[in-house]
Amino acid sequence: MKRNFSITFSVLAVTVFVFSSAAAQDITRLEKIGDVASVTRDDNSVLLSCTDNSQVRITMLAPDLIRVRASFSKPISNRDHSWAIDKTNWSTPRWNLVETTNAVAIKTAEVEVIIRRSPLLIEFRDAKTGAVVNADERPLAYDAKGLLKSMMFDPDAGVFVAASKKLGFDEHFYGLGEKASRLDKRRSSFINWNSDTPGYVEGRDPIYQTVPFYLGLENGVAYGIFFDNSYRSYFDFGKSSQQRAWFGAEGGEMNYYFFYGPSIQKILGRYADLTGRMPLPPMWALGHQQSRWSYYPETMVDEVVRQYRQRDLPLDVVHLDIDYMQAYRVFTWNKDRFPNPQGMFQRLAAQGVKTVTIVDPGVKHQPAGAQASAVSDPLASQENSYYVFNEGVARNYFQKRKDGRLFVPRVWPGESAFVDYTLPEARRWWGDLHRAYTDVGVAGIWMDMNEPADFVDQTGKNQIDVVSDDEGENSTHAKNRNVFALLMARATYEGLERLQPGKRPYVITRAAYAGVQRYSTMWTGDTNSTWDGLSLSIPMFQSLGLSGQPFVGSDVGGFMGRGNGELLTRSYQVSFLAPFCRNHKTIDGYDQEPWRFGKHYEDIIRKYLKLRYELMPFLYSTLETAHRTGVPLFRPLVLNYQDDSSTYNLDDQFMVGDDLLVAPILSPNTINRLVYLPRGTWYDYWTNKKYTGGTMIRVDAPLETVPMFVRGGAIIPKGPAMNFVGEKPATPYFLIYPDAQGKAQTTLYEDDGVSPAYKNGLYRKTSVQASETARGISITVNAPEGQFKTPSRIFSFIISTSLSPTQVVLDGRALPNGGQSGPGWQKNGGILTVRIADDGKPHVIDIR
Ligand code: GLC
Repeated sequence: MKRNFSITFSVLAVTVFVFSSAAAQDITRLEKIGDVASVTRDDNSVLLSCTDNSQVRITMLAPDLIRVRASFSKPISNRDHSWAIDKTNWSTPRWNLVETTNAVAIKTAEVEVIIRRSPLLIEFRDAKTGAVVNADERPLAYDAKGLLKSMMFDPDAGVFVAASKKLGFDEHFYGLGEKASRLDKRRSSFINWNSDTPGYVEGRDPIYQTVPFYLGLENGVAYGIFFDNSYRSYFDFGKSSQQRAWFGAEGGEMNYYFFYGPSIQKILGRYADLTGRMPLPPMWALGHQQSRWSYYPETMVDEVVRQYRQRDLPLDVVHLDIDYMQAYRVFTWNKDRFPNPQGMFQRLAAQGVKTVTIVDPGVKHQPAGAQASAVSDPLASQENSYYVFNEGVARNYFQKRKDGRLFVPRVWPGESAFVDYTLPEARRWWGDLHRAYTDVGVAGIWMDMNEPADFVDQTGKNQIDVVSDDEGENSTHAKNRNVFALLMARATYEGLERLQPGKRPYVITRAAYAGVQRYSTMWTGDTNSTWDGLSLSIPMFQSLGLSGQPFVGSDVGGFMGRGNGELLTRSYQVSFLAPFCRNHKTIDGYDQEPWRFGKHYEDIIRKYLKLRYELMPFLYSTLETAHRTGVPLFRPLVLNYQDDSSTYNLDDQFMVGDDLLVAPILSPNTINRLVYLPRGTWYDYWTNKKYTGGTMIRVDAPLETVPMFVRGGAIIPKGPAMNFVGEKPATPYFLIYPDAQGKAQTTLYEDDGVSPAYKNGLYRKTSVQASETARGISITVNAPEGQFKTPSRIFSFIISTSLSPTQVVLDGRALPNGGQSGPGWQKNGGILTVRIADDGKPHVIDIR
């Protein structure tokens, strides 16, 4: 009953909201941009000047990346600044311009842009086939008459701008960052306005983050659009009309980037070029993490870690939530609860556990008394004088209202102040404040409440007249809200880089804007401990991955409400393969550490946590791919099989990299399910049973089993089970799964796991190929790439085969049959194992 009621209620709430907002944003009434009056060109762009004094600049950044920037009834501004963009120095691709009476045609090697002069309509085509990929449905438009002012957050801060595209009959939409929605966003509409939304359910919009980047896919051909505008923005993928997909914002410029694929993976690579790549976090960030609002005093933290070790449950990281501070004063320690943080962190480190502390943007508003002395020791009492507030005031780094008064929001510490992170020197100061943590051995920073949340008013109205320097523009909240978290993340990341030059920063954030992957990983905020919440997490992780953020996860077991052992176990069967795997729970929630529901569940959870660590070589290699290529680890099937329409709306299964397909159970009392296997050969991970894909199968999934399949053609590098990263030497072994042609391959990526030296070539890439030959099986180990040296060790290759070899030959010399440890081979049951010394040289193994 209760469940039904709440579902009906939320559906109603969502419907009412969407109905009223869609009615308010009728973009067909907006003023259209004028016709093209003249065309000029320079080295990398074409400028269209319009009859109404508007301008459109089309810039060719790469053969597959075109920027469209427009101004309405005035020239395009000389100021061209975005916090999201990482790369501005593009080398101009080859392109040419052809002008006719009716149109202007620009062509690179990959994209043709046709601009009709009257009315001004932009169309993108595949340069080779001529096929239209994306076309304006109506000209770019702006709210010249102020028709939409009444729905705007701040009607004085800008003019509504919009672009409208023809909606394909079979066009699918993906990405758009963190949305509480399913994978395919066709027939939905969204708003971007970073919002603190505890307990959000599917359909709640907006939530924490803004990533105004989406992918369109029709007939297997994909393009991307990044509307780089930080004002409150709108995306409508055919919800309000069957004709159009449109996007717009309550101010700022019409400024978008068009990416041409046709492959989604290629677009994600370009998007990473433009907005930046995720640097590799320390390898232990892939370890299991435990959090709670809040673990204190320190004996409680010790006890949690003791339980983990005693129960033989893997744990790499413990999180300290807001109660470690003195009355929520950031950059301080509560000495009653944590008398000796450094000592505690050393104690935890000796057990392989790292500590992450939460840091909120709200600095307690605490004007210093007349005789207050400045104590900048984070361990000393700040009762009379709080060094962070004092310094922020003295340096003039806090946000102010238009009239010059300090802006005083209310957050955990009560009255607070926020830093103006658009100021470079304020970012530097904020970053340096993290020495309060790094000095005592904190390993990572968890940024929260950075929408920024304000208990006075969560919609932002209380902040409407807050001014940010914004590189001298002195702009207001309407423009800056959505980039607040991005800049806080930047300050934090750059601070950690300075404070710990030999270590990779580890930062987690709740809110964000596009580009945040350069500085921070993320989690999906205050979810519910419900089956719906678990099911929603999959499309959310996938969509984030399709929007440039590969390092994602959500509170395992859910944050709010009371879960149960079954839900927690099934949650682990999703999150054990998500980059961020952290169990976290709200202050008044039921305890949900892995052992809290009894031994039955704990044993199954242990199995999956151990498996995560065994798969660490595979996960880390896949994470490195994400770092380098922008293609995420946790993927929807459409990313790997974009010409297979059965994957277009499939979000109750996921893939890890190219090779693992997982079909978790997302409802209670369910012990089997349908699984879609795309074309090709597949192997049941648990039984090695072979399947031919391109079909749905029904598989058993009792609580202890998550359906998991390996792609034929894959080699999965694994290692020993561990209770924390680095507990044991990584001795990789390779599980070989041949495809229909008998071939398989992989590349194992390794580095020191902690330092930034990988950026300078200190890594090792070992590629391995296997193929079935007429005589048997041949395995090739290529000479490793990169300068990272691994200790001498044994590589094992494991293959399930009906072959009964008589001889295994390594580089022309027979390997001994039998033995357990040194080089050799054996066949046991159906499993053949070959061991060779990994000495950094290329090798060929012939199995006959
Ligand atoms: C917010 C965070 C949550 C945290 C709590 C207290 O709700 O999203 O993870 O536990 O604040 O800091």
